[in-house]
Amino acid sequence: MQTIYYDLRNTKGQQKEVADKIYAAAKILREGGLVGIPTETVYGLAANALDPAAVKRIFEAKGRPQDNPLILTIPGPQWLPRYCVDIPPLAYMLARKFWPGPLTMILKCNREVVPDIITAGLDTVAVRCPDHPVTLAIIREAGIPLAAPSANSSGRPSCTTVQDVLEDMDGKIEGVVDGGPCQVGVESTILDLTCTPPRLLRPGGLPMEDLERLMGKIDVDKAVNAALAEGEQPKAPGMKYRHYAPKAPVTVVTGAPEKSAGEIQRRAQPGDGVICFDEYADCFREQVVKTLGASDDKATQAQRVFDALRSFDSCDVPQIYAQCPDSRGLGLAVANRLKKAAGFHVVNADRVRVILGLTGGTGAGKTSALQAIEDMGGTVLDCDAIYYDLLQNSQPMRNAINELFPGSFQADGTLNRKKLGQEVFAQKDRLEKLNEIVYRFVLPELQQRLEKEDGLAAVDAINLIESGAGQLCDCTVAVTAPMELRVRRIMARDHIPEEYARLRISAQKPDEYYRGKCDVELANAADSPEQFRKEAREFFTRLVEKIAEEKRGSSQG
Ligand code: TXA
Ligand code: MG
Repeated sequence: MQTIYYDLRNTKGQQKEVADKIYAAAKILREGGLVGIPTETVYGLAANALDPAAVKRIFEAKGRPQDNPLILTIPGPQWLPRYCVDIPPLAYMLARKFWPGPLTMILKCNREVVPDIITAGLDTVAVRCPDHPVTLAIIREAGIPLAAPSANSSGRPSCTTVQDVLEDMDGKIEGVVDGGPCQVGVESTILDLTCTPPRLLRPGGLPMEDLERLMGKIDVDKAVNAALAEGEQPKAPGMKYRHYAPKAPVTVVTGAPEKSAGEIQRRAQPGDGVICFDEYADCFREQVVKTLGASDDKATQAQRVFDALRSFDSCDVPQIYAQCPDSRGLGLAVANRLKKAAGFHVVNADRVRVILGLTGGTGAGKTSALQAIEDMGGTVLDCDAIYYDLLQNSQPMRNAINELFPGSFQADGTLNRKKLGQEVFAQKDRLEKLNEIVYRFVLPELQQRLEKEDGLAAVDAINLIESGAGQLCDCTVAVTAPMELRVRRIMARDHIPEEYARLRISAQKPDEYYRGKCDVELANAADSPEQFRKEAREFFTRLVEKIAEEKRGSSQG
């Protein structure tokens, strides 16, 4: 099949030609064909809504799941009573104010007239009157309502130019009408009027604030701002599908523009893709950049968001970072499309990063304290674990160790712990030398891992201060406990007799040492580890709050 292309841009003064093209497109539709049509939001893929066989071909051309209903596109509110029942006065009020325009209303469906394939068997139907002279003329000429979902292949970003439509649909449809690039750029706002209060199912080209000004508070469906849990059903079936997604994984970064730009700068590798506001394009010279428009120009961001996402499908970037506008006005729709493209993988650059360093002797309760950090949603970075990781994976560190202690590694590449241990403990300065090497490699790795954190993180290190890791932290915490408590806890934990427990403690630095070196002390006098974990959580909550406040204060100053 060859797709016929009708160019209806800049057609001033050529009325006969325009009328012919509109007639031709309407004829295809009346006869059960498919036509790509321009709207003010995104391009639609239209068929005669009253012809189930024609509508079925829409699902085939798009590869769209059958349980995802279509919008009924009509030329004005006067057609509402044909297809809807129990129409509330509010629907007419909204139509008078916002139609033609980017508002889709969900109303009770007249199931005797509207085919089930449109509604996917629901007893409601979505109706919309697009604000595009060409498409309105086609509908009037055809004299039929159109079923018209967005013209993209299912799962791909919506089409905002006729080239996008051809990219996805050429050869699968009878015709496409070029009405120029879409003015709005994101799909219509979907408002469900069959529930009280009315509910926003999809943010779109009509800002929610405009609706609320007219009709008061509206609910926002959960699927707008967050990924749904397994098995959870959104009110708009289409909101559940992975959507708008380029091939490469996307991370959305929210927060004040200068913060989100900085966050992306820290994270993005050379060669990654970046979608950013115009002001920050120069910050990403080593990345593949698509600009969204100025940070305060949400109308332009809406126009460009799909094009930006689409553009990364033709270049092989390993991952994409996107700066995200705030949720006011059209920002809600732009943010929603970006977040859906990211599978709701979102980083908040406004979140203040707080890094605590925890240290302390055996049996004092460091492990419970770290669990408390995790209870608070924080991340624990264990320096020992990083060391073992590097022992396997960092050839430079292995070389450095091998140079100082030849033969530390066995033929199969694994560390000969026993041999290294013997060498190191034979002389005191040798342990120091080994530590020097370890710190030299562990610290930069730790620093890199900390950069990736955007909330609360704790560094777990017995040599927190000596290694210099403490300097990467906002606050160092000594976890201490009275001697007798530690003895009893070690005996219970490791099933060893009292004298061994005492021996182990005395082989380590005393509490006074940690107390003297750290910024604050978390003293453990609790009856049980569980109790201490609770107390630690309260302690850290206060501490983190205080640090976050100081940081916010200093970044504003
Ligand atoms: O701006 C737009 O609305 C564009 C242009 C082409 O008009 N159309 C569009 O259609 O975005 P589509 O099919 O891509 O998105 C329609 C959304 C889907 O998420 C679908 O699940 C939802 O509307 N929908 C349709 N009928 C519904 C109903 N009865 N109840 C709830 N949601 C419905
Ligand atoms: Mg769509």
